[in-house]
Parts: sequence; structure tokens; C-alpha cells
Amino acid sequence: MVSKQTTTTTLCEMKQKDAKITMLTAYDFPAARLLNEAGVDVILIGDSVGMVKLGYESTLPVTVEEMLHHVKAVKRGNTRALLVADMPYLSYELDCAQAARNAGRLVKEGGAHAVKIEGGGLDAVAVVKELLRIHIPVMGHLGLTPQSINRLGGYKVQGRAARDAERIIAQAQALENAGVFALVLECIPSDLARKITSTLSIPTIGIGAGPHCDGQVLVLDDALGLTESGTPKFVKHYANLRSAALAATSAYCHDVRKGLFPAAEHEFKDTPR
Ligand code: KIV
Repeated sequence: MVSKQTTTTTLCEMKQKDAKITMLTAYDFPAARLLNEAGVDVILIGDSVGMVKLGYESTLPVTVEEMLHHVKAVKRGNTRALLVADMPYLSYELDCAQAARNAGRLVKEGGAHAVKIEGGGLDAVAVVKELLRIHIPVMGHLGLTPQSINRLGGYKVQGRAARDAERIIAQAQALENAGVFALVLECIPSDLARKITSTLSIPTIGIGAGPHCDGQVLVLDDALGLTESGTPKFVKHYANLRSAALAATSAYCHDVRKGLFPAAEHEFKDTPR
């Protein structure tokens, strides 16, 4: 059976029916195929690609060209999930025309269905309105916003102080009013996430924001246990693929060095067998 394409409307209907939304990152063709087979609702081509796949220290160096390369690969492997592409740092903050041009490329050339931007100030609200004007759905992202890492002073839980919590609540409402179709809440206390989720009519998707959000997102490599260095407390490892891959590649090196691979069954003979 061919399952239906997930759309931004599907996500709103899921919130109304109290059905949890599943979202994972993917950066390439095989990951997109895998997530479609697993039945994931939303694939995020996150700018986390910079740290997870490109070896950058943060998401800040990621460019629109790099995002496009990965969005196109994911698009080729996708059949049904909603594809959301992150707008990388400095691709939307300078002015609305720049935001429209870059979001347009991610949709028109890359094949994304929607884009995600970080932040909820007046500038972000203006960008959301401009992108909607040219028919590009926008997902918001509040709480720990990795593109502001230098201002935030590290990857820390946000919204613990009452004033910060109030600011995040006000920004969430402003983004909903501007027209975002969903909102990622990253690294905030679960009570704050619950309050925002029950106030908004659009779905919230949490990462390190507790169980009360309308959906959850994780970085795929974290969930699969492929990440080399320590992962944050909120990550659950559903597999430990890095150790399995390390054992396999070490065994290959051993076999080649000892002349154990290739064996007879891997050889071609003159006469077909
Ligand atoms: O870039 C990313 O992977 C993200 C998620 C962590 C939400 O923005």
C-alpha cells in the first residue's frame, strides 16, 4: 500500500486528534529511504548536518549550497514524509528579500516542502510573513537555538528564569500569529513546553523539552548511536551502531592483513560457477 504524503495540514490534524508527531533528521538518500520505511512523519534536513556530517564545531559555517546538496539527496529518497529544510545561519537574518531568495532555492531547487528558521523576535516574524507571501510554509524554533550559540554562551537549557520563560511564551504566540505551521521547542523545562503546547493551536515538536509536546524530534545519528562524542541527556540511543561499525571495519582490516579476505567464495573463476 502506498501511504499518503504528509503535509503541514496533516500535522495540525494530528494535534487535534492527539496523535503524536514523529520527526527525525536525515542528510542523505539512504537515511531518507530508511525513515520512509520506518514511517516517520517529518524529515528535517537540519543544519546539524554541519556538526554531524561535515565536522564543523557548530552549525554557524553551514551554507545554503551545503544545505541544498543534502536536501536534494534526501528528496531523492523520500516518498511520503514532509520535508523541512533548515535555513542556515545568515541566510535569512539580513533582510526579507534575502530570506525569500534562499528559502525559494531550498524549495525550488532542493525540493523541500517547508523551511525552518530559528528565533521569535520581530525580525523572525517578518521573515515568516514574507515566506508565507511566496507560499513557503515555515516551522519555527525556540528555546535553545544553536545559531545563537555565541550569544547564549553554550548549549544550555533555556527558559528556566521566569522572565526568559515569559519571553519564549510570547515569541511562540507571535510566531503562531505570523503563520508558522509548527514549532520546535529545544532544551526547555517540560512544564514550560506543556504550557506552550496547550496554549498554541499549532503543533509543538520537542527536543529536550519533555513529553508534553505534540511531537518529538531527534538527530538520527544520535538516536542510532552513531555519534562519536557525548550526546546530550535528552537523547535516547535506540541502537549502538558506532560500536557495531567499528567492530566490522576492524575485522575487515584484520582479515585483509592476515589474508583471510577475500576467500574462495568471493573470487571469480575463468569458468562461471
Ligand atoms: O538542525 C537540527 O538538527 C535541528 C534539530 C535539533 C531540531 O534543528
